[in-house]
Amino acid sequence: MIVLLGYMGSGKSSLADYLNKNNNLTYCDLDHYIEKKEHKSIPEIFKQKGEIYFRKIENLYLSEILVQNRQDVLALGGGTPCYANNMELINTRNSTSIYLKVDLDELTTRLYQQKSERPLIEPITAESQLKDFIRKHLFEREYYYRQAKHIINVTHLSIEDVASTILHLD
Ligand code: S3P
Repeated sequence: MIVLLGYMGSGKSSLADYLNKNNNLTYCDLDHYIEKKEHKSIPEIFKQKGEIYFRKIENLYLSEILVQNRQDVLALGGGTPCYANNMELINTRNSTSIYLKVDLDELTTRLYQQKSERPLIEPITAESQLKDFIRKHLFEREYYYRQAKHIINVTHLSIEDVASTILHLD
């Protein structure tokens, strides 16, 4: 299984969807899986049950998906690699983990436009504050992201190019 990881806004879900439509690969999006299982949206889970609960079920459903091993591609949530033993679970399951790396400026631009569905950044109002938040957060998270088997800087790549790079990895 190809496991896509990276910060919020790095294009994990879009890429999984692209690979499904254009390359016939089956995929699972962990956030969507959680929403379906819990009958709630991610913002609702954060609001009603809190982040600790979310991290607990995120770990549970991740293990479930990895054990079932039914899909070709799995798109994680931005925080998934950084909690519990998630990165270890992923890398010991014989999967191809790929970190989709995006530069800070590009992440800030993208996320400033699409922060409403993302509880961790939704309250941040100014773009400069968002940039400071992402810089610090990314610094903490990169330790985990770097444990991926492959790292691709996708900042200036089209989705077609990213898909083709991934399909030609050895
Ligand atoms: C999170 C990222 C989100 C989602 C949740 C927490 C994070 O997924 O899992 O809001 O901690 O970075 P996306 O990366 O798909 O936005």
